Formats: sequence, C-alpha cells, structure tokens
Amino acid sequence: MCGIVGYVGHKPVVDILLDGLAQLEYRGYDSSGIAVKCSDSIKVYKAEGKLANLRDELSFHAYELSKSTMGIGHIRWATHGAPTVINAHPHTCNCGNLVIVHNGIIENYKELKAELEAKGCIFKSQTDTESVAHLVASIYAEVKDLTKAVHLATQKIQGAYALCIMHNDEPNKIVATKRNAPLVIGLGENEFYIASDVPAFIKHTKRAIYLEDNQVATLTPDKLIIEDENSAKIEPKVELLPWESVALSKMGYKHFMLKEIHEQPDIIRNILVGKLKTSDSEIELNEVNLTKETLKNLNRIQVIACGTSLHAAMIGKYIIENFCSIPVDVEASSEYIYRKTVTDKHTLVIGVSQSGETADTLTAIKQSKARGSHILIITNRPDSAMAREADSLLSVNAGIEVSVAATKSYIAQLTSFYLLALYMAEIKGTMKSDDLRNIKSEMLLLPQKIEQILSHKEEIQKCARKYSGTRDFIYIARGINYPTALEGALKLKEISYINATGYPAGELKHGPIAMLDETMPVLSILMKGSVYEKLLSNSEEAKARNARMIALTNSTDPKLDDLFDFIIRVPEVMELLSPLIAMIPLQLIAYYIAEFLGKDVDQPRNLAKSVTVE
Ligand code: AGP
Repeated sequence: MCGIVGYVGHKPVVDILLDGLAQLEYRGYDSSGIAVKCSDSIKVYKAEGKLANLRDELSFHAYELSKSTMGIGHIRWATHGAPTVINAHPHTCNCGNLVIVHNGIIENYKELKAELEAKGCIFKSQTDTESVAHLVASIYAEVKDLTKAVHLATQKIQGAYALCIMHNDEPNKIVATKRNAPLVIGLGENEFYIASDVPAFIKHTKRAIYLEDNQVATLTPDKLIIEDENSAKIEPKVELLPWESVALSKMGYKHFMLKEIHEQPDIIRNILVGKLKTSDSEIELNEVNLTKETLKNLNRIQVIACGTSLHAAMIGKYIIENFCSIPVDVEASSEYIYRKTVTDKHTLVIGVSQSGETADTLTAIKQSKARGSHILIITNRPDSAMAREADSLLSVNAGIEVSVAATKSYIAQLTSFYLLALYMAEIKGTMKSDDLRNIKSEMLLLPQKIEQILSHKEEIQKCARKYSGTRDFIYIARGINYPTALEGALKLKEISYINATGYPAGELKHGPIAMLDETMPVLSILMKGSVYEKLLSNSEEAKARNARMIALTNSTDPKLDDLFDFIIRVPEVMELLSPLIAMIPLQLIAYYIAEFLGKDVDQPRNLAKSVTVE
C-alpha cells in the first residue's frame, strides 16, 4: 500500500503530482505529501488525512511552486507510526538535502536506526522509511553520487520497498528502485513519470517500463538510465499500456460502491459474451493454457487469495469439486507463504486477486511457480504483477473498482470460477449433459435476476435502517453459501465498523450460540436446496434464544413468516448458482447501514484498496 508518484520534465509538476496521487488514493489515504524542486532548494509539503487536505495546504503556495517541473509525491497507508504530519512522506535526512518517498516495509529499520543514531543522525518520525533517508544521505556524503548511494544503500536494506529519492546537490534527478513492491516508469517527450501504478500517469503517456526488483533507475528530463543490481546498464522493455484514461465518475450515485453494485448485471453479461453463448454450446476459455490431456489428468488444485477474493476462492472450491471431482484446497495467501506447502508441477495453482498486486498472494504465487506449478491468475488487472507471473490469465474485466469494499470484482471473480469449473467439467466429462445445460441456461439469466433485486431495493433499505443501531451482527449459512455469509459479514464490518461475523450455521451450537440474546441480529442465508431444511432448524435454534431473526431467501414458504422478523426475498435460482444472487442484497445491506450511519463508504478508515505489504 502507499502510493508513489514522481515527475521530471518541463511541465508544472504540482498538478501532475496531485492528479497522480488522486489516482493512487485507493492505496491509502492516511496522509499525503510532495517534495518539489524550487529554484533554490527542494521544498516539502505534507498534510494529514485525505489528499484534499494537501491540496488546501498547497493552494497557499501556488505562485511560488508554479515554475517547478520536478518532484515526488506520496499517499500513505500507515504501517509504522500513526497517521500524523510528522510521519507523512516525503522524509528527509537531517540537513534536508535528501528527500525520499517509500512504499513497503523496511524490516531491519530498527538495526539501521541504531547504527545511524550512533553516527549522529536524529530521527524525527516513527516510520521505518526515515532510516532509509538517513542511510542514503550518509552514503551520499561519501560517494557524492545519488545513483551509486542508492545502489549501496539497497545492499543494507531488508524488506519490501519502492523508493523515489531526490537530492539538492543533484537537482535535476530522481533516483528510484524497488524490491517486491510495484514501480512503473512512464515515458513522455523529454519527460518521465514514475508511479506505483499506471493510472497515476496514463492520461499523459501509454509507453511504460515496469521496473524489476533491484534495478535502479535514474530519471532526468532528457535521459533515463536503468541499471541492474551490479550497476550494469540494461536495455529495458518498453510496453504499450492497454489502458485508456477514464474519468472516474459516480454517474449520479452517491458513492462509487453503490454505482459498482449496480454495474454487476452488465459485468456478468460481458464476462459471458463469447465464452458461454447458449445453454447447448461448449464453454470457450482459450485463456486456459493447459492441454486437454493435462486438464483431464489434473488431480489437485490449490487456490490462494486474501479477503474478498478468498471468499470467491472458497466458492470456487465448492463448484470445482462439485462439477469436476477434483480436490481443491483454498488458503489465505498470508498463511500459505509461511509453511511447508506441497504444491508441485502436478498441481494447478490459482491465484485470485482484484488488484493483482496483493503482496501475500504475489509471494505465494511466486513460491508455487518456483516449484513448477502451472499458475492461473484470476484478476481484474491484466497489467498487474500477478498477471505477469501467470501461465494462464483469466481477466475478469470488471472495470476499475474505486470503492475500497470489493463488490463487482467479487461477482466477476465468481462468474469466472463458474466458467472455469464448467470448462474443466466438459473436458473431464464429469457432469451429466442435462445438468450442464440447466446450469448454463440459468447462468444466462443471472443478470436479469440481479437487475430485479436492484430495482426493488426499498425492502433492503428498510432492513438496513431497522438494524443499523446494532453493535454486532451474525450471518449464518451452510454449504455453498457459507462463504457468502463470510463475505456479507466482511462487507458490513469494513464499511460500517459493526462487529459482524459469518458462521457455518451448523457450528452455531458449538459455541457462538452463547452470544445470542434479544439484541443480536442473525441473518440466515436460506436458499432452497440441499441444506435448506437443516438451516431452517439452525434458524429455529437461534430464534429460541431470542435473536432478532432476518431471512435472505428465495423461498415463499409461509412458515418463514413466524420464524423471521424480517424477510428479504430474492428471485428463484438453483442452489449451485445462488451465491451470485444472495450476495447482492448483502452488499446493499452493508452499503445502506454504513450510509445511514454516515460512514465514509468508499474510503473506510484504516483500509486501502491494494495491500502491497505482507
Ligand atoms: C474487500 O472488500 C477488501 N477490501 C479486501 O479484503 C480485499 O479483497 C483483499 O485485500 C484482497 O485484495 P485483492 O483481491 O486485490 O488481492
């Protein structure tokens, strides 16, 4: 997390940096800051909180900064040190000659700090980053060459980082480097941009170079030099970015989250186009780069992901096992990377990530790749670091998701999992043709059914208002919708800060039932099918403990009226596809509760859209 942006060229830099940071706000919004080269020296400006605060601060200096054409900027998601102005980037060395912005975590910062303090450096902030500012400055004092100083400093730094550095004594230069954190350079006419992500400069140029780990780039207005870790110059690969600069607009919705929820029917339609044509035609998934023979013999799949993507992966497991009879393991990437795992070249490893940048998932993917597994990536960002590791790439094409709470990317990931599972089932011959036909024809109807839910939101709004005063919330489900319960709870807690938890309903009686009383809302995801009756009994058990019962159901069974205080009805759908329908009201409940409570829906506290630290 954290976003970096930099520019050297001939245009006024402040707006370029601020616009770039605005595009990177999804990476954090705890504080922001810029350092710009002015006629006499580099000047630093910082502000706590959202970028708007920095804009306000800079408005007082507009005239004096109007001639600056070079600078670096940062938007922070706090890891070390509270989100204060002191801890905001850019950081400087003691004399203020060197300025630095950083994304990542310096793992040995304490050792570095002790060493540098012993040499007389005085630390002002609580950040890990400041140790790098002092380190590079102290090396620079000896070698008098910024690029060389950065090379030498990186030999002493442990952890993950993307760094951009400027020095008063080399006034026309930005030196940048990275290890396990993204950094991309945009090439203009006698100008260069550098950023954590492409949207920061895409409106200026589409030609870009993705910096690789341990490379050091030196940017001046007329020259870009990239060196490998041994200081040997390299000829970088220039890519043409497959991106359009899009003006992100809420299209009349109050929040991006609400807009993104409403985009879901069309996203499903777009994903299905060309891949699932009719209920009688075979699934076309040319993106899967495995021979039919390999797929037929595949006997194990490992899926790795975090957060919402992990919930999509859990449903993916359910359907792949059901349709293809292949055992599937699902694990949070952050757990997967720190134990002995047994993936090998006979395992298909699927990485799921909206951003394609999540550090834990990226590391997990690299580990599995090194062990010879085929890597299939399901992502919304075909230009991401994970996509570049992929042997097979399923791009979910949900469009840019601005709201930190993932909604449309989740539905897009799920849709992709269904296509993948059906595709493999057809090749392996593990499903009856009638079942295949039924599920395909129902899939084609999903967008309409979601539209039906979206056009009758009033009941959901009423429900949200009724339960918005609660401190806790429990979601229960069984079978394929257990991950739906987890995802519903995650949505609610991340944007409303209500303590929400999802449980497999059968587990309630093994402990969580102790929490139930007349204050606790319990939302039962009661979709018709194999576990309907069982879940009904679990709901009765909760009711018997006086819980405030809510049903999300596609059943019209009259006995539900006695059992539940509030019923949200959704259209008929077969059990195996029900997660795609059930999730929509849960997204809306979370949205309306947060909106009713006056929370910052699109940028909830403490979160960032892209989590690039482990
Ligand atoms: C979702 O609402 C979250 N904000 C978060 O859990 C997210 O899904 C997680 O950080 C994983 O991100 P990714 O999909 O970009 O890898």
